[in-house]
Amino acid sequence: MRVVIVFYSLSGNTRRVAKLLASRLAGPDLVEVHDRHQYSTLTAYASGAPRAMRGEVAEVDPSEIEVGDYDLVVLGSPVWAFSPTPAVNGIVAALRGIEGKEVVIFVTSAGVPGDAAGKLQAASEARGARVRGSVAFDRKDLDNERKMADLVGLVTRPPSAG
Ligand SMILES: Cc1cc2nc3c(=O)[nH]c(=O)nc-3n(C[C@H](O)[C@H](O)[C@H](O)COP(=O)(O)O)c2cc1C
Repeated sequence: MRVVIVFYSLSGNTRRVAKLLASRLAGPDLVEVHDRHQYSTLTAYASGAPRAMRGEVAEVDPSEIEVGDYDLVVLGSPVWAFSPTPAVNGIVAALRGIEGKEVVIFVTSAGVPGDAAGKLQAASEARGARVRGSVAFDRKDLDNERKMADLVGLVTRPPSAG
């Protein structure tokens, strides 16, 4: 099964989970996406968080992400203001060939993720994806074996019918 993990990370936590997940799977592709607006920690709170809360879609690099050749797409997002980041909303918009694909979501947060995963699920479904489920990691607990096992289980479970 061909898997691609697409993520954004400002301070490294989401990247860490993405790489740990990649190490547990059979040779997935890993795509780190960058927001064209470069945030510092300060500007992330001052302007990124309100944008995230409003559900804004950032311009990202790469601007198009072709996933038609994959069986499953994993989306990874930090939580900003109980929401996916604008860059991850940008990822969802940049996906090509996502219609009908299965998606698994993970988010990393300081422990109060709100409905970030649900919002990302809704955005993915609006693009025609079928979301298998999501796992939320606390940044104090990025190496949590049970959560990683849950995430690997979601990714590797046999495809659902339809
Ligand atoms: C602008 C901003 C807003 C955040 N909002 C939340 C939040 O609403 N809830 C929460 O639990 N953590 C929040 N955090 C913490 C991050 O979700 C957490 O540190 C995450 O793991 C960062 O991922 P990264 O290292 O991949 O960028 C916020 C962090 C930033 C920078």
